[in-house]
Amino acid sequence: MADPSTADSALSGPENPRASASASQSVSSNATWGGVFDGATDKRVERFSESVSYDRRLFEHDIRGSVAHSRMLASVGVLTSDEQSQIEAGLTMIGLEIQAGQFEFRQELEDVHMNIERALIDKIGDVGRKLHTGRSRNDQVSTDFRMWVRTEIDRLDGLLKDVQRAFVGRCATDEGVVLPGYTHLQRAQPVLAAHYWLAYCEKLERDRGRLADCRRRVNQLPLGTAALAGTTIPIDRQMVADDLGFEGLVANSLDSSSDRDFALEFCSCLSVIAVHLSGWAEEWVLWSTTEFGFLKPPQAFCTGSSIMPQKINPDVLELIRGKSARVIGSLQSLLVLTKGLPLAYNRDLQEDKERVFDAADTVTACLELAAPLVAGAELRRESIASRLDHGYLDATTLMEHLIKLGVPQRTAHETIGKLVGVAMQRGVRLADLEVQEFTSACDKLDESVYEVLGVDRAIEAFRSVGSTHPDRVAEQEAVWRERLS
Ligand code: ARG
Repeated sequence: MADPSTADSALSGPENPRASASASQSVSSNATWGGVFDGATDKRVERFSESVSYDRRLFEHDIRGSVAHSRMLASVGVLTSDEQSQIEAGLTMIGLEIQAGQFEFRQELEDVHMNIERALIDKIGDVGRKLHTGRSRNDQVSTDFRMWVRTEIDRLDGLLKDVQRAFVGRCATDEGVVLPGYTHLQRAQPVLAAHYWLAYCEKLERDRGRLADCRRRVNQLPLGTAALAGTTIPIDRQMVADDLGFEGLVANSLDSSSDRDFALEFCSCLSVIAVHLSGWAEEWVLWSTTEFGFLKPPQAFCTGSSIMPQKINPDVLELIRGKSARVIGSLQSLLVLTKGLPLAYNRDLQEDKERVFDAADTVTACLELAAPLVAGAELRRESIASRLDHGYLDATTLMEHLIKLGVPQRTAHETIGKLVGVAMQRGVRLADLEVQEFTSACDKLDESVYEVLGVDRAIEAFRSVGSTHPDRVAEQEAVWRERLS
Protein backbone atom coordinates (compact mmCIF):
# COMPACT_ATOMS: atom_id res chain seq x y z
CA MET A 1 0.00 0.00 0.00
CA ALA A 2 1.18 3.50 -0.73
CA ASP A 3 2.45 5.45 2.21
CA PRO A 4 -0.24 8.04 2.92
CA SER A 5 2.36 10.51 4.11
CA THR A 6 3.88 10.67 0.63
CA ALA A 7 0.63 10.63 -1.33
CA ASP A 8 0.63 14.41 -1.66
CA SER A 9 4.26 14.82 -2.58
CA ALA A 10 3.30 16.13 -6.02
CA LEU A 11 1.43 18.93 -4.31
CA SER A 12 4.23 20.24 -2.16
CA GLY A 13 4.89 23.87 -1.29
CA PRO A 14 3.80 26.24 1.45
CA GLU A 15 0.42 26.87 -0.20
CA ASN A 16 -0.59 23.24 0.10
CA PRO A 17 -2.03 22.34 3.49
CA ARG A 18 -1.86 18.64 2.76
CA ALA A 19 1.86 18.90 2.11
CA SER A 20 2.57 20.81 5.28
CA ALA A 21 0.46 18.39 7.27
CA SER A 22 2.14 15.33 5.86
CA ALA A 23 5.45 16.85 6.83
CA SER A 24 4.30 17.34 10.41
CA GLN A 25 4.34 14.80 13.21
CA SER A 26 1.83 11.95 13.32
CA VAL A 27 0.16 13.12 16.54
CA SER A 28 -2.24 15.99 16.17
CA SER A 29 -2.50 18.77 18.71
CA ASN A 30 -5.83 20.32 18.02
CA ALA A 31 -6.43 22.30 21.17
CA THR A 32 -9.58 23.98 19.82
CA TRP A 33 -11.79 21.42 21.49
CA GLY A 34 -9.01 19.70 23.44
CA GLY A 35 -10.78 19.80 26.81
CA VAL A 36 -13.10 16.85 26.61
CA PHE A 37 -10.84 14.80 24.37
CA ASP A 38 -8.19 12.64 25.95
CA GLY A 39 -6.20 11.97 22.84
CA ALA A 40 -5.29 13.25 19.44
CA THR A 41 -7.39 13.08 16.29
CA ASP A 42 -6.42 10.25 13.95
CA LYS A 43 -4.28 11.65 11.15
CA ARG A 44 -6.49 9.91 8.60
CA VAL A 45 -9.50 11.72 10.01
CA GLU A 46 -7.70 15.03 9.71
CA ARG A 47 -6.94 14.38 6.08
CA PHE A 48 -10.45 13.19 5.41
CA SER A 49 -12.24 16.04 7.10
CA GLU A 50 -10.11 19.09 6.37
CA SER A 51 -11.55 21.89 4.31
CA VAL A 52 -8.70 24.40 4.49
CA SER A 53 -7.30 23.20 1.16
CA TYR A 54 -10.24 24.95 -0.50
CA ASP A 55 -12.00 27.17 2.04
CA ARG A 56 -8.83 29.24 2.41
CA ARG A 57 -10.37 31.15 -0.47
CA LEU A 58 -12.62 32.73 2.12
CA PHE A 59 -9.74 34.22 4.10
CA GLU A 60 -10.41 37.88 3.30
CA HIS A 61 -14.04 37.55 4.26
CA ASP A 62 -13.15 35.59 7.38
CA ILE A 63 -10.80 38.34 8.51
CA ARG A 64 -13.26 41.09 7.63
CA GLY A 65 -16.03 39.27 9.52
CA SER A 66 -13.83 38.72 12.57
CA VAL A 67 -12.80 42.38 12.63
CA ALA A 68 -16.45 43.44 12.57
CA HIS A 69 -17.26 40.89 15.27
CA SER A 70 -14.45 42.19 17.50
CA ARG A 71 -15.58 45.80 17.04
CA MET A 72 -19.05 44.80 18.13
CA LEU A 73 -17.69 42.86 21.13
CA ALA A 74 -15.83 46.01 22.18
CA SER A 75 -18.89 48.17 21.73
CA VAL A 76 -20.99 45.92 24.00
CA GLY A 77 -18.20 45.80 26.59
CA VAL A 78 -17.04 42.20 26.10
CA LEU A 79 -13.63 43.41 24.88
CA THR A 80 -11.76 46.51 26.00
CA SER A 81 -10.89 48.86 23.21
CA ASP A 82 -7.22 47.98 23.68
CA GLU A 83 -8.01 44.28 23.29
CA GLN A 84 -10.05 45.01 20.20
CA SER A 85 -7.20 47.04 18.68
CA GLN A 86 -4.79 44.18 19.27
CA ILE A 87 -7.20 41.73 17.64
CA GLU A 88 -7.83 43.96 14.66
CA ALA A 89 -4.13 44.64 14.16
CA GLY A 90 -3.32 40.94 14.47
CA LEU A 91 -6.00 39.92 11.99
CA THR A 92 -4.91 42.60 9.53
CA MET A 93 -1.36 41.35 9.71
CA ILE A 94 -2.49 37.76 9.12
CA GLY A 95 -4.43 38.93 6.08
CA LEU A 96 -1.31 40.53 4.66
CA GLU A 97 0.73 37.40 5.34
CA ILE A 98 -1.80 35.21 3.54
CA GLN A 99 -1.89 37.61 0.60
CA ALA A 100 1.90 37.56 0.41
CA GLY A 101 1.94 33.74 0.46
CA GLN A 102 3.78 33.79 3.80
CA PHE A 103 1.13 32.02 5.83
CA GLU A 104 1.30 28.33 6.54
CA PHE A 105 -2.15 26.77 6.54
CA ARG A 106 -2.22 23.69 8.73
CA GLN A 107 -4.39 20.76 7.88
CA GLU A 108 -4.74 19.69 11.48
CA LEU A 109 -6.58 22.97 12.13
CA GLU A 110 -9.24 21.82 9.68
CA ASP A 111 -10.40 25.01 8.04
CA VAL A 112 -9.53 28.59 7.23
CA HIS A 113 -11.44 29.85 10.25
CA MET A 114 -9.48 27.86 12.81
CA ASN A 115 -6.19 28.52 11.04
CA ILE A 116 -6.69 32.26 11.27
CA GLU A 117 -7.88 32.13 14.87
CA ARG A 118 -4.92 30.01 15.91
CA ALA A 119 -2.51 32.33 14.11
CA LEU A 120 -4.07 35.25 15.95
CA ILE A 121 -3.57 33.55 19.32
CA ASP A 122 0.02 32.71 18.40
CA LYS A 123 0.56 36.34 17.46
CA ILE A 124 -1.13 38.29 20.24
CA GLY A 125 -1.48 35.74 23.00
CA ASP A 126 -4.44 35.20 25.28
CA VAL A 127 -6.39 38.22 24.02
CA GLY A 128 -6.83 36.30 20.79
CA ARG A 129 -8.68 33.60 22.73
CA LYS A 130 -11.53 36.04 23.30
CA LEU A 131 -12.38 36.58 19.62
CA HIS A 132 -14.67 33.57 19.31
CA THR A 133 -17.00 34.89 22.03
CA GLY A 134 -20.67 34.86 21.09
CA ARG A 135 -20.25 33.07 17.78
CA SER A 136 -19.64 29.56 16.47
CA ARG A 137 -18.00 28.33 13.33
CA ASN A 138 -21.46 27.46 12.04
CA ASP A 139 -22.54 31.09 11.76
CA GLN A 140 -18.99 32.14 10.88
CA VAL A 141 -18.78 29.77 7.89
CA SER A 142 -22.15 30.92 6.63
CA THR A 143 -21.22 34.60 7.06
CA ASP A 144 -17.93 34.25 5.20
CA PHE A 145 -19.51 32.20 2.46
CA ARG A 146 -22.35 34.66 1.97
CA MET A 147 -19.86 37.50 1.70
CA TRP A 148 -17.93 35.53 -0.89
CA VAL A 149 -21.07 34.79 -2.92
CA ARG A 150 -22.12 38.44 -2.68
CA THR A 151 -18.78 39.56 -4.13
CA GLU A 152 -19.05 36.97 -6.90
CA ILE A 153 -22.55 38.11 -7.80
CA ASP A 154 -21.32 41.67 -8.23
CA ARG A 155 -18.39 40.52 -10.35
CA LEU A 156 -20.56 38.24 -12.48
CA ASP A 157 -22.99 41.08 -13.08
CA GLY A 158 -20.13 43.07 -14.62
CA LEU A 159 -19.11 40.13 -16.81
CA LEU A 160 -22.68 39.57 -18.01
CA LYS A 161 -22.84 43.24 -18.88
CA ASP A 162 -19.63 42.92 -20.92
CA VAL A 163 -21.19 40.16 -23.00
CA GLN A 164 -24.36 42.20 -23.45
CA ARG A 165 -22.26 45.14 -24.62
CA ALA A 166 -20.50 42.88 -27.11
CA PHE A 167 -23.86 41.78 -28.54
CA VAL A 168 -25.15 45.35 -28.74
CA GLY A 169 -21.88 46.33 -30.43
CA ARG A 170 -22.55 43.76 -33.14
CA CYS A 171 -25.86 45.42 -34.04
CA ALA A 172 -23.97 48.25 -35.71
CA THR A 173 -21.39 45.94 -37.29
CA ASP A 174 -24.11 43.78 -38.82
CA GLU A 175 -26.54 46.55 -39.68
CA GLY A 176 -29.00 45.50 -42.38
CA VAL A 177 -27.98 41.83 -42.33
CA VAL A 178 -30.98 39.52 -42.59
CA LEU A 179 -30.70 35.99 -41.23
CA PRO A 180 -33.06 33.08 -41.54
CA GLY A 181 -34.83 32.58 -38.21
CA TYR A 182 -35.43 28.97 -37.21
CA THR A 183 -37.89 26.92 -35.27
CA HIS A 184 -37.16 23.19 -34.92
CA LEU A 185 -33.92 24.20 -36.65
CA GLN A 186 -35.95 24.50 -39.87
CA ARG A 187 -36.03 27.78 -41.75
CA ALA A 188 -39.02 29.77 -40.49
CA GLN A 189 -39.11 33.55 -40.96
CA PRO A 190 -36.51 36.19 -41.73
CA VAL A 191 -35.04 38.21 -38.87
CA LEU A 192 -32.49 40.97 -38.63
CA ALA A 193 -29.09 39.89 -37.29
CA ALA A 194 -29.48 42.64 -34.69
CA HIS A 195 -32.68 40.97 -33.54
CA TYR A 196 -30.69 37.82 -32.86
CA TRP A 197 -28.06 39.73 -30.87
CA LEU A 198 -30.64 41.56 -28.80
CA ALA A 199 -32.40 38.28 -28.03
CA TYR A 200 -29.25 37.21 -26.19
CA CYS A 201 -29.13 40.56 -24.38
CA GLU A 202 -32.61 39.81 -23.03
CA LYS A 203 -31.61 36.38 -21.77
CA LEU A 204 -28.53 37.76 -20.06
CA GLU A 205 -30.59 40.58 -18.56
CA ARG A 206 -32.87 38.04 -16.92
CA ASP A 207 -29.74 36.28 -15.64
CA ARG A 208 -28.61 39.54 -14.08
CA GLY A 209 -32.05 40.05 -12.57
CA ARG A 210 -32.02 36.57 -11.08
CA LEU A 211 -28.60 37.18 -9.53
CA ALA A 212 -29.74 40.51 -8.10
CA ASP A 213 -32.77 38.85 -6.59
CA CYS A 214 -30.65 36.04 -5.19
CA ARG A 215 -28.28 38.64 -3.72
CA ARG A 216 -31.02 40.02 -1.48
CA ARG A 217 -31.40 36.66 0.24
CA VAL A 218 -27.66 36.02 0.29
CA ASN A 219 -27.12 39.35 1.96
CA GLN A 220 -28.66 38.51 5.34
CA LEU A 221 -26.28 38.23 8.27
CA PRO A 222 -26.09 34.88 10.08
CA LEU A 223 -23.30 35.93 12.49
CA GLY A 224 -24.45 35.87 16.09
CA THR A 225 -26.92 33.05 15.58
CA ALA A 226 -23.97 31.01 16.94
CA ALA A 227 -24.09 27.21 16.90
CA LEU A 228 -27.84 26.73 16.57
CA ALA A 229 -29.67 28.45 19.43
CA GLY A 230 -28.12 31.90 19.67
CA THR A 231 -25.91 33.12 22.49
CA THR A 232 -26.29 34.38 26.03
CA ILE A 233 -23.61 37.03 25.40
CA PRO A 234 -25.28 40.45 24.92
CA ILE A 235 -24.13 40.89 21.30
CA ASP A 236 -25.36 43.50 18.83
CA ARG A 237 -25.96 41.72 15.55
CA GLN A 238 -27.29 44.79 13.79
CA MET A 239 -24.01 46.58 14.37
CA VAL A 240 -22.12 43.73 12.67
CA ALA A 241 -24.61 43.73 9.79
CA ASP A 242 -24.11 47.46 9.27
CA ASP A 243 -20.34 47.12 9.42
CA LEU A 244 -20.30 44.28 6.87
CA GLY A 245 -22.93 45.70 4.53
CA PHE A 246 -25.62 43.08 5.17
CA GLU A 247 -29.16 44.24 4.45
CA GLY A 248 -30.75 42.33 7.33
CA LEU A 249 -30.32 39.66 9.98
CA VAL A 250 -31.11 35.99 9.56
CA ALA A 251 -34.05 35.77 11.96
CA ASN A 252 -33.99 32.21 13.28
CA SER A 253 -30.79 30.72 14.66
CA LEU A 254 -31.79 27.12 13.89
CA ASP A 255 -32.61 28.01 10.33
CA SER A 256 -29.42 30.02 10.03
CA SER A 257 -27.18 27.16 10.99
CA SER A 258 -28.71 24.78 8.47
CA ASP A 259 -29.49 27.15 5.62
CA ARG A 260 -27.74 26.71 2.30
CA ASP A 261 -30.57 28.07 0.16
CA PHE A 262 -28.33 30.95 -0.80
CA ALA A 263 -25.80 28.51 -2.29
CA LEU A 264 -28.53 26.55 -4.06
CA GLU A 265 -30.03 29.70 -5.50
CA PHE A 266 -26.67 31.03 -6.59
CA CYS A 267 -25.81 27.76 -8.35
CA SER A 268 -29.22 27.70 -9.92
CA CYS A 269 -28.65 31.21 -11.31
CA LEU A 270 -25.24 30.07 -12.57
CA SER A 271 -26.81 27.03 -14.19
CA VAL A 272 -29.29 29.15 -16.13
CA ILE A 273 -26.44 31.38 -17.32
CA ALA A 274 -24.50 28.28 -18.37
CA VAL A 275 -27.55 26.97 -20.23
CA HIS A 276 -27.94 30.29 -22.06
CA LEU A 277 -24.28 30.35 -23.01
CA SER A 278 -24.42 26.77 -24.13
CA GLY A 279 -27.39 27.43 -26.43
CA TRP A 280 -25.62 30.38 -27.97
CA ALA A 281 -22.39 28.38 -28.34
CA GLU A 282 -24.23 25.53 -30.03
CA GLU A 283 -25.85 27.98 -32.44
CA TRP A 284 -22.49 29.45 -33.34
CA VAL A 285 -20.88 26.03 -33.68
CA LEU A 286 -23.57 25.21 -36.23
CA TRP A 287 -23.24 28.57 -37.93
CA SER A 288 -19.50 28.09 -38.37
CA THR A 289 -19.91 24.80 -40.27
CA THR A 290 -19.48 24.65 -44.04
CA GLU A 291 -23.09 23.50 -44.20
CA PHE A 292 -24.35 26.73 -42.63
CA GLY A 293 -21.52 29.02 -43.66
CA PHE A 294 -22.87 31.95 -41.60
CA LEU A 295 -20.03 32.72 -39.26
CA LYS A 296 -16.28 32.96 -38.96
CA PRO A 297 -15.29 32.83 -35.27
CA PRO A 298 -12.08 34.76 -34.51
CA GLN A 299 -9.15 32.45 -35.29
CA ALA A 300 -7.53 33.20 -31.95
CA PHE A 301 -10.50 31.41 -30.39
CA CYS A 302 -10.21 28.33 -32.58
CA THR A 303 -7.73 25.50 -32.69
CA GLY A 304 -6.43 23.21 -35.41
CA SER A 305 -6.19 19.50 -35.82
CA SER A 306 -2.98 17.53 -35.28
CA ILE A 307 -3.70 15.40 -38.34
CA MET A 308 -6.05 17.32 -40.65
CA PRO A 309 -4.26 20.44 -41.86
CA GLN A 310 -7.38 22.22 -43.08
CA LYS A 311 -9.28 22.16 -39.79
CA ILE A 312 -10.23 25.30 -37.90
CA ASN A 313 -12.27 24.04 -34.97
CA PRO A 314 -14.47 26.21 -32.77
CA ASP A 315 -13.17 24.59 -29.58
CA VAL A 316 -13.87 27.51 -27.28
CA LEU A 317 -17.53 27.50 -28.30
CA GLU A 318 -17.66 23.74 -27.85
CA LEU A 319 -16.12 24.00 -24.40
CA ILE A 320 -18.52 26.75 -23.37
CA ARG A 321 -21.31 24.43 -24.47
CA GLY A 322 -19.70 21.53 -22.58
CA LYS A 323 -18.84 23.36 -19.38
CA SER A 324 -22.52 23.88 -18.66
CA ALA A 325 -22.44 20.20 -17.63
CA ARG A 326 -20.23 20.82 -14.64
CA VAL A 327 -22.19 23.89 -13.54
CA ILE A 328 -25.45 21.96 -13.66
CA GLY A 329 -23.63 19.08 -11.96
CA SER A 330 -22.68 21.38 -9.10
CA LEU A 331 -26.28 22.44 -8.63
CA GLN A 332 -27.29 18.80 -8.66
CA SER A 333 -24.64 17.95 -6.06
CA LEU A 334 -25.82 20.71 -3.76
CA LEU A 335 -29.44 19.63 -4.03
CA VAL A 336 -28.55 16.05 -3.20
CA LEU A 337 -26.20 17.20 -0.44
CA THR A 338 -28.84 19.26 1.36
CA LYS A 339 -31.76 16.93 0.76
CA GLY A 340 -32.76 15.08 3.90
CA LEU A 341 -30.54 17.01 6.32
CA PRO A 342 -32.13 17.50 9.73
CA LEU A 343 -31.76 20.81 11.56
CA ALA A 344 -29.34 22.34 12.26
CA TYR A 345 -25.67 22.26 11.20
CA ASN A 346 -24.42 18.95 9.83
CA ARG A 347 -20.88 18.35 8.69
CA ASP A 348 -22.17 17.35 5.25
CA LEU A 349 -22.52 21.06 4.64
CA GLN A 350 -18.76 21.43 4.38
CA GLU A 351 -19.08 19.74 0.98
CA ASP A 352 -20.90 22.77 -0.42
CA LYS A 353 -17.98 25.09 -1.06
CA GLU A 354 -16.04 23.28 -3.73
CA ARG A 355 -19.16 22.89 -5.84
CA VAL A 356 -20.07 26.56 -5.54
CA PHE A 357 -16.49 27.70 -6.17
CA ASP A 358 -16.26 25.50 -9.24
CA ALA A 359 -19.60 26.64 -10.65
CA ALA A 360 -18.69 30.31 -10.19
CA ASP A 361 -15.19 29.85 -11.63
CA THR A 362 -16.54 27.97 -14.62
CA VAL A 363 -19.20 30.53 -15.47
CA THR A 364 -16.66 33.32 -14.98
CA ALA A 365 -14.24 31.69 -17.42
CA CYS A 366 -17.02 31.20 -19.99
CA LEU A 367 -18.24 34.79 -19.73
CA GLU A 368 -14.71 36.15 -19.97
CA LEU A 369 -14.25 34.35 -23.28
CA ALA A 370 -17.77 34.96 -24.56
CA ALA A 371 -17.37 38.75 -24.68
CA PRO A 372 -14.34 38.83 -27.04
CA LEU A 373 -15.74 35.93 -29.06
CA VAL A 374 -19.01 37.73 -29.68
CA ALA A 375 -17.20 40.93 -30.58
CA GLY A 376 -14.60 39.28 -32.78
CA ALA A 377 -16.69 36.92 -34.93
CA GLU A 378 -17.55 37.81 -38.48
CA LEU A 379 -20.86 37.19 -40.22
CA ARG A 380 -20.36 35.83 -43.74
CA ARG A 381 -22.77 38.24 -45.33
CA GLU A 382 -22.54 36.93 -48.88
CA SER A 383 -22.89 33.33 -47.97
CA ILE A 384 -25.95 34.13 -45.85
CA ALA A 385 -27.56 36.35 -48.48
CA SER A 386 -26.99 33.86 -51.28
CA ARG A 387 -29.35 31.35 -49.68
CA LEU A 388 -31.93 33.61 -48.09
CA ASP A 389 -34.34 32.74 -50.86
CA HIS A 390 -34.32 29.12 -49.78
CA GLY A 391 -36.86 27.90 -47.27
CA TYR A 392 -39.90 30.10 -48.04
CA LEU A 393 -39.12 32.56 -45.25
CA ASP A 394 -41.81 34.87 -46.69
CA ALA A 395 -44.66 32.32 -46.60
CA THR A 396 -46.05 33.49 -43.25
CA THR A 397 -45.97 37.11 -44.39
CA LEU A 398 -47.97 36.14 -47.48
CA MET A 399 -50.45 34.28 -45.29
CA GLU A 400 -50.90 37.36 -43.12
CA HIS A 401 -51.35 39.47 -46.27
CA LEU A 402 -54.27 37.23 -47.12
CA ILE A 403 -55.69 37.55 -43.61
CA LYS A 404 -55.54 41.32 -43.97
CA LEU A 405 -57.59 40.93 -47.16
CA GLY A 406 -60.32 39.30 -45.03
CA VAL A 407 -59.54 35.58 -45.34
CA PRO A 408 -59.82 33.57 -42.07
CA GLN A 409 -56.41 32.47 -40.76
CA ARG A 410 -57.01 28.73 -41.11
CA THR A 411 -58.16 29.16 -44.72
CA ALA A 412 -55.24 31.47 -45.54
CA HIS A 413 -52.81 28.97 -43.99
CA GLU A 414 -54.12 26.20 -46.20
CA THR A 415 -54.11 28.34 -49.35
CA ILE A 416 -50.50 29.47 -48.89
CA GLY A 417 -49.47 25.96 -47.93
CA LYS A 418 -50.73 24.75 -51.29
CA LEU A 419 -48.90 27.54 -53.12
CA VAL A 420 -45.68 26.66 -51.28
CA GLY A 421 -46.23 23.06 -52.39
CA VAL A 422 -46.48 24.17 -56.01
CA ALA A 423 -43.36 26.33 -55.74
CA MET A 424 -41.44 23.53 -54.02
CA GLN A 425 -42.33 21.12 -56.77
CA ARG A 426 -41.05 23.53 -59.40
CA GLY A 427 -38.02 24.43 -57.25
CA VAL A 428 -38.79 28.17 -57.36
CA ARG A 429 -39.49 30.97 -54.86
CA LEU A 430 -43.03 32.14 -54.08
CA ALA A 431 -42.14 35.38 -55.88
CA ASP A 432 -41.47 33.35 -59.04
CA LEU A 433 -45.06 32.07 -59.32
CA GLU A 434 -47.31 33.66 -61.98
CA VAL A 435 -50.00 36.08 -60.87
CA GLN A 436 -52.66 33.69 -62.23
CA GLU A 437 -51.39 31.00 -59.89
CA PHE A 438 -52.04 33.33 -56.98
CA THR A 439 -55.44 34.49 -58.19
CA SER A 440 -56.62 30.99 -58.90
CA ALA A 441 -55.53 29.88 -55.43
CA CYS A 442 -57.61 32.69 -53.92
CA ASP A 443 -59.64 35.33 -55.72
CA LYS A 444 -58.67 37.94 -53.10
CA LEU A 445 -55.07 37.75 -54.29
CA ASP A 446 -53.79 40.00 -57.08
CA GLU A 447 -50.59 41.69 -58.27
CA SER A 448 -50.13 43.17 -54.79
CA VAL A 449 -48.68 39.84 -53.54
CA TYR A 450 -45.36 40.80 -55.06
CA GLU A 451 -45.21 43.76 -52.67
CA VAL A 452 -44.87 41.45 -49.68
CA LEU A 453 -42.82 38.64 -51.21
CA GLY A 454 -39.08 38.36 -50.82
CA VAL A 455 -37.15 38.43 -47.58
CA ASP A 456 -36.51 42.19 -47.44
CA ARG A 457 -40.18 43.01 -47.98
CA ALA A 458 -41.17 40.39 -45.46
CA ILE A 459 -38.96 42.05 -42.86
CA GLU A 460 -40.54 45.43 -43.60
CA ALA A 461 -44.03 43.98 -43.23
CA PHE A 462 -43.64 43.14 -39.52
CA ARG A 463 -45.61 45.46 -37.25
CA SER A 464 -45.89 44.19 -33.69
CA VAL A 465 -43.96 45.51 -30.72
CA GLY A 466 -40.96 43.25 -30.14
CA SER A 467 -40.92 42.15 -33.80
CA THR A 468 -38.00 42.15 -36.17
CA HIS A 469 -39.15 45.22 -38.16
CA PRO A 470 -36.07 47.45 -38.59
CA ASP A 471 -37.69 50.35 -36.70
CA ARG A 472 -38.68 48.15 -33.77
CA VAL A 473 -35.19 46.64 -33.65
CA ALA A 474 -33.60 50.10 -33.83
CA GLU A 475 -35.76 51.18 -30.88
CA GLN A 476 -34.66 48.15 -28.88
CA GLU A 477 -31.06 48.74 -29.76
CA ALA A 478 -31.34 52.32 -28.48
CA VAL A 479 -32.87 51.06 -25.25
CA TRP A 480 -29.99 48.64 -24.78
CA ARG A 481 -27.34 51.24 -25.54
CA GLU A 482 -28.89 53.52 -22.96
CA ARG A 483 -29.26 50.74 -20.39
CA LEU A 484 -25.68 49.58 -20.75
CA SER A 485 -24.06 53.00 -20.91
N1 ARG B 1 -15.00 23.21 8.34
C1 ARG B 1 -16.38 23.21 8.67
C2 ARG B 1 -17.23 23.74 7.50
O1 ARG B 1 -16.73 24.40 6.69
C3 ARG B 1 -16.64 24.00 9.88
C4 ARG B 1 -17.89 23.67 10.53
C5 ARG B 1 -17.82 23.82 11.96
N2 ARG B 1 -18.90 23.31 12.67
C6 ARG B 1 -18.90 22.17 13.31
N3 ARG B 1 -19.89 21.96 14.08
N4 ARG B 1 -17.96 21.27 13.15
O2 ARG B 1 -18.41 23.47 7.43
